[in-house]
Amino acid sequence: MITFDEKTGIFHLKNAYTSYVLQLVRNKYLLHRYWGRPLRAFRDSTPFQAIDRAFSPQPAAWPNERTFSLDVLPQEYPAYGHGDYRLPAYAVRLSNGTTVTELAYSSYKIKAGKPALRGLPAAYAKADEAETLTISLNDTKGALGIELSYTIFADQPVIARSARIINTGSQPVELLSAASFAMDFADHDFDRLSLYGGHAAERSLERVPLMHGIQETASRRGASSHQQSPFLALARREATEMSGDVYGFSLVWSGEFSFRTEVEQFGSTRVLGGINPAEFRWHLKAGESFQTPEALMTFSPDGFNGMSQAFHHIVREHIVRGRHQHALRPILVNNWEATYFDFDDEKIDKLADCAADLGIELLVLDDGWFGHRNDDNTSLGDWVINTKKLKKGLNGVADSAHRRGLKFGLWFEPEMVSEDSDLYRVHPDWTLHVPNYPASYSRHQLVLDLSREEVRDYIVTSVSKVLHSAPIDYVKWDFNRHLSEAFSAALPAERQGETKTRFVLGLYDVLERLTKAFPDILFESCSGGGGRFDAGMLYYMPQTWASDNTDAVCRLAIQSGTSMVFPPITMGAHVSVTPNHQMGRTTSMQTRAICAMAGDFGYELDITRMSDAEKQQVRDHIALYKKIRPTLQLGRFYRLLTPFAGDRNETAWEFVSEDDKQVVLMYFKTLATPATPIRTLNLQALDQEAEYELTTYLPAQRTSMDFGGEARSNLVGQCFYGDELMYSGLSVEKIDTDFAGFLWVFDRK
Ligand code: GLA
Repeated sequence: MITFDEKTGIFHLKNAYTSYVLQLVRNKYLLHRYWGRPLRAFRDSTPFQAIDRAFSPQPAAWPNERTFSLDVLPQEYPAYGHGDYRLPAYAVRLSNGTTVTELAYSSYKIKAGKPALRGLPAAYAKADEAETLTISLNDTKGALGIELSYTIFADQPVIARSARIINTGSQPVELLSAASFAMDFADHDFDRLSLYGGHAAERSLERVPLMHGIQETASRRGASSHQQSPFLALARREATEMSGDVYGFSLVWSGEFSFRTEVEQFGSTRVLGGINPAEFRWHLKAGESFQTPEALMTFSPDGFNGMSQAFHHIVREHIVRGRHQHALRPILVNNWEATYFDFDDEKIDKLADCAADLGIELLVLDDGWFGHRNDDNTSLGDWVINTKKLKKGLNGVADSAHRRGLKFGLWFEPEMVSEDSDLYRVHPDWTLHVPNYPASYSRHQLVLDLSREEVRDYIVTSVSKVLHSAPIDYVKWDFNRHLSEAFSAALPAERQGETKTRFVLGLYDVLERLTKAFPDILFESCSGGGGRFDAGMLYYMPQTWASDNTDAVCRLAIQSGTSMVFPPITMGAHVSVTPNHQMGRTTSMQTRAICAMAGDFGYELDITRMSDAEKQQVRDHIALYKKIRPTLQLGRFYRLLTPFAGDRNETAWEFVSEDDKQVVLMYFKTLATPATPIRTLNLQALDQEAEYELTTYLPAQRTSMDFGGEARSNLVGQCFYGDELMYSGLSVEKIDTDFAGFLWVFDRK
């Protein structure tokens, strides 16, 4: 898969889906030469055209070669200071105050498989699943060494990259930035796609032309954030959901990040990404090294769906770990929107009774079970059951769920502390804060300093104690504010710039210890909904609550956007009450259910207050979901229509089971429209010669009390060949309601 040709200096990383080509020139510089469809061989049909470019300096070794300048060469990990005026991949301040270093190639290694990154989440692979190239570059004056790591996966168009910066000198150096990857495209004929949003509005897709100058997608919040996601795609202008070249980048990192693109004077594009350099500093003593987080890079000739398929595969098979990796995820009921903080044993028992009757499998007790927390002002940090609320104790509540045949889950927010807590009263210095300035509150809480070992130990011990004290099957791990005044009382002045990075590394240490100690527990991460939905968190916790916004219409965009990178099995999605608590919108139970079935399905409303008719509908939905769950959770996912295109009024998602035997199709139309065209859906990825029987059809249910959802054109029982469903398509019957949701199940004959 990886070859090196000494004569030409060509490194060629190749599988059946992609080629990635680097070239070593003048035995010194590492250039980027090609990335895209697989090539038989790279023999340089695009030799670099040496042109004398004004204002582009020559390196000292070639003063008379006016056509040779780092300013115009396509580079892989460019240094700062020798006449390349574009963004550098790293920056460092040496002990003499200068920031200039000069990298020269030193050696390379090729190894089967993929080495782990110490202390960091990263894709993993067995020896026959991937190959890894490590290229060592050294500063010509011995100040620094850099190891660039490239893994190519055997069966995916995916390259994983990271860098390790080593202080090889005798003096300390200060790292000012260190990208996970950098590379140059020869042109800039791209659109730039990113996912932006806010709390309760995560991951909307934005597509803009790549422009001259620098464009940035970033978080400065200490977390991967609701506001921007650690994802970037560069797509050829004509690329669509199903066609065209798309390059995707996603970071395995949960802290603040930056992706920058720079289109320079001669029209080429530099792209780089990694930890946000804005406030990043890292002190390296002689001999110490810094490992960057990993970037996953996908190439798709098949549009955005191709990119997403590749990301989904890597996330499912090479990021998510543990016993739940391939396990079907339980249908849950969460008491948050049912009770908020206002609950006791009796209410929870009633919820459990009803859940068991409806066919739900897991009862989750959300915020408010500990300390004296009856609102969001107190008790974070005091992970001790509130027996005033739960008189039977945690064991009692868990047993009572188990007796009813339900699994039992519990909410935590361990990275935080409330001022009104025993923990804060004893350890006020355990928070992130700046001496002499008051710390900012957010949701009335402060952030614990996870760079400190004693803080991490406290979290591991206190959470473990609770998890040992009762039979707990599931944990929701929340993080409900971003970092501010990110300084640590435990770090010296020159290391304060490391605090935000150390916070995330500390979190990873905690998560590694806890998830190892409790391998049977299913962990779901959360951050005020989907504020930390990234591959780093998924390495420890196989699913993430996608958004605090449970409104089905908003969820169409949130889940479509999330699916650009993450597969449906990683997305928590629940049916909630109408009018919806966040949007005030009334949608039918069926639309809510179909939309939630496209993720890890559950309910988040007071199910005890539903009418008998509603309960029966829920029983039916749950029974259906159990039948199609393997397809929805383990199958391949295709976006046919997204709310980011056209009039933003339609969404269609298709799921094809792993064994290609079942297909589930979902279609949503947000607002009914007059003089409306008939919508035809062209299915994807079917076997054209196989016959598929329509076995289930849920036509749109009108808002609120229409439980009939009567089909006008009922094709149930009919069989169609795959080619007809793909090329002629399936038409959707006339829609006379807002917020319509449809579902079809086809079983292959
Ligand atoms: C966050 C989560 C919610 C809920 C609350 C509890 O906002 O996203 O699902 O757990 O916290 O305080």
